[in-house]
Amino acid sequence: MDVRTLQKDGFVVVKYPATLREEVRAAMTSWAAFCQLPMDTKKTLSGGDRIRDFGYMLRADTGPNSESKEQFHVSRNQIEHLRHIALGIKKTSALIFIEAADRMLLGTSKIIQNFAAGVSQVYNLPGFEADVMSSVDRWTFRYLHYFGGETLAFPHADRGGFTLHLYEDLEGGDYLGFDGVWRAWPVTSTQTIIFPSMGLQLRSENRLKALWHRVRSTGESAKRGRFSMVAFIDFKQPYRYNDAKKRMQDFPPGFNYQISKEEFESLFVPR
Ligand SMILES: [Fe+2]
Repeated sequence: MDVRTLQKDGFVVVKYPATLREEVRAAMTSWAAFCQLPMDTKKTLSGGDRIRDFGYMLRADTGPNSESKEQFHVSRNQIEHLRHIALGIKKTSALIFIEAADRMLLGTSKIIQNFAAGVSQVYNLPGFEADVMSSVDRWTFRYLHYFGGETLAFPHADRGGFTLHLYEDLEGGDYLGFDGVWRAWPVTSTQTIIFPSMGLQLRSENRLKALWHRVRSTGESAKRGRFSMVAFIDFKQPYRYNDAKKRMQDFPPGFNYQISKEEFESLFVPR
């Protein structure tokens, strides 16, 4: 993988190993089956929704820029807890995609490490690889199900460290290039992308930019919804994005491509 493309394209293309692809595909099948269960059952696997950020979450807000979706977060530090609940309610579909996270961690960790090592070397970020790899317990697999409608995901940049795209059952994913043009992202069954989020923009002292992206509905996804998965890769960071100052969705797409390092840093507060 060539991480030098990050400053030109905004993302890096990585080869998608066939075994990982197969694990992801199987996990998505059981996630789709889980989505069919009654809401009461699904909510048993919630970490309290906006209180603790793991397990099942429903987002069905109304109003401008609200997305209609359900999602599920699995990270290694929550697998045991989630497995325990899934066993208790005897829901095999949940058990399958929760346990898949362990195998997907194995399958993705080499890719993540190569990325972190490359970024550390090319952009001279000492300690970056170690910070990423020692945070493996907090890497989060997000299973997504958009219910449909006109727009599936509004333009945004992710807040964590960086993002590995893992699955989509329909097209519609776009990224905002540094020239201000939206383009379809180059994701197939044999290759995928990693792109920086807000955390890596901060860590790289504004040299790498959190990539803005969105999901357009296609005729088919508007009708029957869309399933996808991403992995959010976190690393030790002493600062967090300060929502209280300005919500990310209130910025225009790509606002962070041009701003100064000082301006960007002012958006964060100590953890
Ligand atoms: Fe995103």
